[in-house]
Formats: sequence, C-alpha cells, structure tokens
Amino acid sequence: MKYIIPCAIVLFLSVNVFAQNKKETALQIKINSIVKKMTLEEKVNMLHGNALFSSGGVPRLGIPELTCDDGPLGVREEIKRFDWASANWTTDSATFLPNGSAIAATWNPALANKYGVVIGEEANARKKIVMLAPAFNICRMPLCGRTYEYYSEDPYLNSQLAIQSVRGIQSQHVAACIKHFAANNQELHRDSVNTLVDERALREIYLPAFKAAVQQGNAYTVMSAYNKVNGYWCSENDFLLNKVLKNEWGFKGAVMSDWAGTHHTVAAANSGLDIEMGSSGPYEQWYFAKPLLEAVRSGQVSEKTIDEKVRRILWLMYQTSMSANHPKGSIATPAHAKAAYDIASESIILLKNDAHLLPLKEGNIKSIAVIGDNATRTFALGGYGAGVKAKHEITALEGIKSRFGKTASISFAQGYRANYLASNTDAQNRGYDQPDQKLIDEAVALAKTTEVAILCIGSNREYESEGHDRKNLDLPFGEQALVNAVSAVNPNTVIVIMAGAPYDLKEIKKSNHTIVWSWFNGSEAGDALADVLKGAVNPSGRLPFTFPVSLKDSPASTLETYPGKDLTADYKEGIMVGYRWYDTKNIDPLYCFGYGLSYTNFTYTGLATNKKAYKPGDKILVSLKVKNSGTLAGKEVIQLYISKTNSVVLRPEKELKAFKKIMIAPAETAAVSMNIDVKDLAYFDSKSHKWIVEPGQYKVLAASSSKTIRQVASFQISR
Ligand code: BGC
Repeated sequence: MKYIIPCAIVLFLSVNVFAQNKKETALQIKINSIVKKMTLEEKVNMLHGNALFSSGGVPRLGIPELTCDDGPLGVREEIKRFDWASANWTTDSATFLPNGSAIAATWNPALANKYGVVIGEEANARKKIVMLAPAFNICRMPLCGRTYEYYSEDPYLNSQLAIQSVRGIQSQHVAACIKHFAANNQELHRDSVNTLVDERALREIYLPAFKAAVQQGNAYTVMSAYNKVNGYWCSENDFLLNKVLKNEWGFKGAVMSDWAGTHHTVAAANSGLDIEMGSSGPYEQWYFAKPLLEAVRSGQVSEKTIDEKVRRILWLMYQTSMSANHPKGSIATPAHAKAAYDIASESIILLKNDAHLLPLKEGNIKSIAVIGDNATRTFALGGYGAGVKAKHEITALEGIKSRFGKTASISFAQGYRANYLASNTDAQNRGYDQPDQKLIDEAVALAKTTEVAILCIGSNREYESEGHDRKNLDLPFGEQALVNAVSAVNPNTVIVIMAGAPYDLKEIKKSNHTIVWSWFNGSEAGDALADVLKGAVNPSGRLPFTFPVSLKDSPASTLETYPGKDLTADYKEGIMVGYRWYDTKNIDPLYCFGYGLSYTNFTYTGLATNKKAYKPGDKILVSLKVKNSGTLAGKEVIQLYISKTNSVVLRPEKELKAFKKIMIAPAETAAVSMNIDVKDLAYFDSKSHKWIVEPGQYKVLAASSSKTIRQVASFQISR
C-alpha cells in the first residue's frame, strides 16, 4: 500500500504529460500546415496592427484578427477603430476592479485569481482575445506615475500575484499580456531612457515575476516595454526577448510591442518582437509591414523567422479565440461586483488606531461629517492610461451613508479642491498644492458639530497618471492644512487616504491617531471602506511597498539615479530595492513593507523547520502557531523572510520567501506551515551567469511585517 499510492500518482502524471505532449504535437502539426498555406504577405499582415487595438488575420483561411484591450483596471470601453474616441456603445459598461497596488495589498493570490477571472469573463463578453494586463513592473521609485497600476517592490509577492492573475484571465480562454517587459520603472522619459541594470538585479528583482508568469502562469503574450535595457530598446532586445524569455524560459506565445514602442524593422524582427502595435502613420508603412516584407526579400530577416512569429500567434489563438468550448463571457454582473468588493475589502490597510476609535460602532454614533473631495470622487477614469466605463462605482460617501445612514446623520463638506489635470502644463496646474481656506472653514464648521469626522483625502487618477511621475511625495491639494484644521476641532477624526503609491504621511502619523489607507478601489470601493470603518470587515491589507520617511532616503534619490543623466538611468542600487535597501542600510521607513494593523492581535509561537540541515533540491518545511489573542475574528498575513548569516556576497538583510493569509477565530490558534525550496535561496552570480545556493547558516524570520519579526529559527544548507 505504501508504494501503490505514489506509483499510481506517478503513473497518472506520466499519462497526463504524455497526453499533453500528444495534444501539443498535434497542434503544432496543424499550425505548420496552416502556415504552409499562407503567402508571405499574409504572414506579415499578422505581425502588425491594422487598427488601434487589433492586428491582422487571414480571412481566406478563417484566421481572425487578434483583438486586444486594456487593462489592468477592467476592460476598457469600446473605442473607435482608428482613434481613441469612444465608440459610444451602450453595452460596454464594465466592472471597475481595484488597482494593482490594491490587489497586492490583499497579499491574497486567490483574490488576484478572482480579479483575473473577472477580466477574462468581461473580455469574452466584448470579444477581446488579448487583455493588456496584468502590469507588474517593480515599484523601484515611489514617484513613478504608474505605481498604482503595478503590484509591489518585492519580486516574490509580485510573482505570486502575477501567476494567479494570469491564470485567472487565461482560465477564460483569454490571453493575458504581461507588461511591461522589462525594467520600466519610471514614467519620466519612459520612451527614451536607457536603463542600466546589472544582470544580478535583473534576475533577482526585475525579472522573477515575468518568469513566474510565463513558466507557472503560462502567459500567452508579453508586452515589451518602451525603455531601453542596457543599451537596447526592449522591443529589439535580443537578450531579454530571445535569450531569456523565449529560449531560457520556454515562452511559447507572442511578444507585442507597447504602443508606438517599435523602432526598427530588422533589429526588432531578429531580436524577438512578434507583433508591432500602436505605431503611427499609414499601416502599410509600419516597421513590420512593407519594410518587413522588403527585409525578408533582401535576406535581412529570414522567412523562417517570420514563420516562427506566425506560429506563435496561431498557437495563442488556439489557446483562446480558436479554442474548443470558448466561453461566451459576461459583463458587469453581480458576481463580478462581489469579486471587486472582496478584493477591495481585503486591500484596505489600517495604518494607525491608537485611540481605538475604529471600528466605529454603528448605532452609538449619531452624527458623522464626511469631508474631502475624494469622498465623492470616482476613480475609474482620469489622467492618461486605461480606465473603465464603470457600470457603477460606489463612492466613500455613498458607502458610509449605506452603512451608517440608518442610525446617524451624515453630512458632507468638500474640504479641498483637486485642481490638477494630467493633461495640463505645469503652469496650468500651478497652485494645485494650495489649500482652499473657504472650503477648510466650511469643513471645520461642520466637523465641530459632529461626533466623528471622516476625512477622505489622498490623490486621484489625474494626479497619479501614466506618462508622468510625481514631483515629490507630498499630499497634494493643500490636504495637510485641511487635516490639521479638522483634527483640531474634532478629536474623533479618522483620516482615510485614497491613493495608489507612497506619500509623505509624517505629519499625519505624528499628529493623528486614526489612519486608514485605501486605493483606487474599484466599483465597490465605498461599501468596502465603510465595512472596514464599521468593523463588518476586519482590516487585513498589508503594504506592498515601503513608505520612506523622506524621498531622500530612497535609493534612487540617495544615489542620484532618478530620473537619470543624459537619458540614462543607472540602477546603481542593484538588488537593494525597497525594503532590501532600507533594512540593509538601517534606514527606518515611515511605514515598512508588509505593514498593516488589525482590530485584533496575533501572537506567534513555535517557529521550527522540519530539519536542521538541507541540501540543494530539498524543501524546507517551516511551521509555527499563530493565535488570535483578541476578541474579533481576523485575517493575519504571516510573512517568512530569509536572512543569510555571513554571506560571501552582498545580500539584503532579509528577503521575503513565503507568506500565507489566514482567517483565525478569536482565541483560536492556527497551525501554519509553508514550504520554501532550497533553490529559491540562491543568489545570481553575474560572473558565471548561474544561480548559486550558498552553503552555511541561514535564519528564517516569521514576521507580521518586514520590521516586526516575531520568531526566528536557524537552519543549515550543506552542499
Ligand atoms: C501603455 C500600455 C497600454 C498601451 C495601449 C501604452 O501607453 O504603456 O500599458 O497597454 O498604451 O493602451
């Protein structure tokens, strides 16, 4: 019996692999036979855009256009075929999903999967084959305008979320397009900057989530980034596209350029780009149109190379639009709204609750002042970059009214004016950071009369936008003056910050006792926020990136590598990104990576590894007990960091290698276990171009944030 079960499993797996291989071979034969029937012109026609969001098909052979749409906040409304204006459909209102850093703040890969399923179902309802999502460039620099779209500063958290969002999207036979490959970490000069990044940092920090999304998520498409990496445009980067992505990682799908991110014909075609998208000028003159035909005819690009690109596109079509049992999809359903709610409610972070003001007891409170432009603002659209025509979006004020309105009177004051548009010049935006005294006076007058004041501040989709970086970490729109004035008259002030990236909260942290962090949190944002304020949801979000005390503490500022000199951004900090930098350099952040409070408390005991020593190839089984020592049920995110003692190479003080989010009932103790592969403790050796697992002593740290280490255990790795 002891051997029968493992043998049966091995047999089952081998039969499965065999069946898979047979299916794949049959598909390749079919694809080859189609390619044989195609003229060179037909093939080349498939390799470039024929409209803003599609590339060519071959109607004669029944091959459809490859249609795509943005992402990542949801499926964008239909726009005209040849320009960005709305097509004015009435059937394309969609679910607005929480932004990338909100998803990351859930620390819950199952929710990333749910996000993906919604995107996939809605894409099918709109007949889109490729969704230009998820986006997960590393949050290297807190000012980056697209931080809100991305996930995290940490490659492991990033990978776990990327894998699941891709799996979710693709479970609906829709291709995920993972973007932007690679090292597109600033918006300033994004289409001209040359990112210099050493191979170790690339491999350890910037590439892992892409690798995981390809190898474990099986992503069908990849979008090359705008910038150059180490001297070569990402759309013609032989190292990134051919060597790493296709040869090393075994990527089977197609690489498409970012919109207008192709620069040459021959270099791009030979370096691994498959589809040119978003260029300007007449379609037949694009790099991958007539010039590509000519390059094939003159022998600069082989027809074999063209065939391979076509095969990749056909392969991804057979996984998606041409697959058997292709789902019909559905859009803006109650189930999708529920998914948006679930993500939003787990993404909200309790940053401070010193006066135990939260949760607000519904029924006990008779009057609430809701103050701030963000209380009534929606975030589905705004600024540059993709947005969603949301079927509905519940604002904070609406959520608070629906959750507290039966027993409390709720009044609103705008508090500040968000005078900033991404499309404005600096001169037109001048003064956006100034308080509006009249609005402050109104807010103060209101806050004096109510038991509680809920201040909804932060940024918005104009202030955080694609194509722009913020100039500093300051809260915009004179919000600090509003916070000071309202908290001076109402001791029960809750500060709610809605934004997608780190801000300078020094002053608020010092002077206020109750701080909640929310995001551009999707269709159900207001209800999720109100449920957290009321305690119907116990907050369980954790920061996916560090909030530095000051911008000058961040590596890019200290080392003066942002935005770069002469359009070159030299990532001199190497692997020391995010908490790796702050912890290794002993710089205290304002709020550290992984931080977030709960309405209950958790105690950690009994951390142990299943063995004292391991060999390469082993798995380390880490176990511990976590007790909910409070009176409310709550979810805890147990984080496992690894620290190498006396390493022979430079290493971060600690690195996240596993995490788990679990619900624990009051007074209950959960037995938690997590596996870490010994191979995942390796560093990348730039000289030998190999991953090396260093022998010696290691520590595993069980933590509730990167700075709150609860338990430590040691183990050895031998050769
Ligand atoms: C963005 C991509 C987006 C594309 C199409 C580009 O400007 O960088 O993320 O998918 O536009 O809208």
